[in-house]
Amino acid sequence: MHNSTRWHVCEDAAAVATEAARRILAAAETAIAARGVFRIVLAGGRTPLRTYRLLSRATADWTSWYLYFSDERCLPPDHDGRNSRATALAWLDRVPIPAPNIHPIPAELGAEAAAAAYRHPVSAALPFDLVTLGMGEDGHTASLFPGQVHPVAELTHPIHGAPKPPPDRVSLSARALSDACAIMILATGAEKKGPLAAWRAGEPLPVAGIGGTGGVDVLIDRDANGALIPYRL
Ligand code: 6PG
Repeated sequence: MHNSTRWHVCEDAAAVATEAARRILAAAETAIAARGVFRIVLAGGRTPLRTYRLLSRATADWTSWYLYFSDERCLPPDHDGRNSRATALAWLDRVPIPAPNIHPIPAELGAEAAAAAYRHPVSAALPFDLVTLGMGEDGHTASLFPGQVHPVAELTHPIHGAPKPPPDRVSLSARALSDACAIMILATGAEKKGPLAAWRAGEPLPVAGIGGTGGVDVLIDRDANGALIPYRL
């Protein structure tokens, strides 16, 4: 695992989204030029939605994109709390990515059945070209929460008792999320200052356990940064 973590402080959440969209489109071009396909893992939660809205207005070779999800909440597919639905509304319903290229986690099946089913598309896709992730206020990422231990060899985990509702979820494992050419983590807002400081201080938070061959790029805004990293205007 390449342990280098590169920290990028942007002016605000809008600047983080612009930079994240630029990096995703650039990674797609590179992967498609090299291998004809771009395999990306999509972050859940609210933070990436601004980036997804920018991507919905971008020009790209969408037919060569293959999309996977970092985690999902065990809710019906049309529930607004589903990461797959929020991502579709913000981006995927607005661009011509072929439906077979989009791999939502079938979390409506329940955590165990969905985790078992999702191992197949994940194992067929590794290594991913780009993994995108968010981070929670307790330092969780995807649905890998502090204090929850999972078999390290698994590619996907059923999650129960998640401290962030809903309690039942499915998550890609640290192993699968780390099997990537590039990893980008987004965190914005003052509420993320604490876990970022703990991460940089070496606390073994779940978010700190993700690392791929190309290292990790962390995009944060000034509110999340506080005085952590010197910010050059
Ligand atoms: C989820 C996410 C989760 C998210 C963080 C940050 O399904 O809830 O995958 O890991 O990235 O909780 O969430 P926000 O971006 O909404 O702050």
